Amino acid sequence: MSSSFPQQFWSGLRNWWREQADANGLTGAASLLARNLWGFVRDSTPERRRSRYGDMDYDWEHRVNTTSGTVGWQARLLGCFHSPYQPTEPALFHEMMASLPIAFDTFTFIDLGSGKGRTLLMASEYPFRKIVGVEILPELDRAAQENIQAYKSPTQQCSEIQAVCVDARDFELPDEPLVLYLFNPLPEAPLRQLIERLEKSLAHSPRAVWIVYHNPLLEPALAVSPFLEKAGSTPYYSLYRNSL
Ligand SMILES: C[S@@+](CC[C@H](N)C(=O)[O-])C[C@H]1O[C@@H](n2cnc3c(N)ncnc32)[C@H](O)[C@@H]1O
Repeated sequence: MSSSFPQQFWSGLRNWWREQADANGLTGAASLLARNLWGFVRDSTPERRRSRYGDMDYDWEHRVNTTSGTVGWQARLLGCFHSPYQPTEPALFHEMMASLPIAFDTFTFIDLGSGKGRTLLMASEYPFRKIVGVEILPELDRAAQENIQAYKSPTQQCSEIQAVCVDARDFELPDEPLVLYLFNPLPEAPLRQLIERLEKSLAHSPRAVWIVYHNPLLEPALAVSPFLEKAGSTPYYSLYRNSL
């Protein structure tokens, strides 16, 4: 059963506060909280709301709903404690996929922090074995489920697409060759924990893993891993692969 908005709000705030206070001290956490809440208020003006519809071309073309413009205020407020929803821009996504020197049909694509699922739809244009989206906010996960049902494309190459509503910190990585897609879902400490879990998973079950890190703000969390090596980068994304 999914929890109510007040429950999600307080547990999101509690976890966020704990992580930020550990990382930045109480004053740092308080000032970041004030900044995030101010960002939420500023983004609630009609003008800002209109500007969020600027990401709608994809939706017009594919008759889906992945825009950040229609995200309700509750999910946007919760985004202050996770990371705000913003869909990946299609041209950039295809550039990132084109930079992967892999046989797609041997890999599972996983978007950790998949929002309304746009990347899942775009990834389905490649012959991945399977596609999985992991999203913490129920409102966004519901939209992703609907989008997966609604998406019709004559060029779609993968129809095994799944969206799950769970914290990426708790998601168990499958024992399969993986392309992990990250568009800044996690703050630094949980991102480091995720990489540690990936290292354990690789030690237990060696396999090829690629990480596509879009807008790599916390790249040092990946760069320090002895299990990973950098395989490419542009100002917009970095690629990592495991050192086999
Ligand atoms: C910048 S958006 C990216 C959305 C999507 N990956 C895309 O590229 O179109 C980040 C997403 O991560 C989600 N998120 C934040 N923290 C998360 C967590 N701990 N577990 C799962 N999802 C999370 C947010 O709700 C948001 O939808």
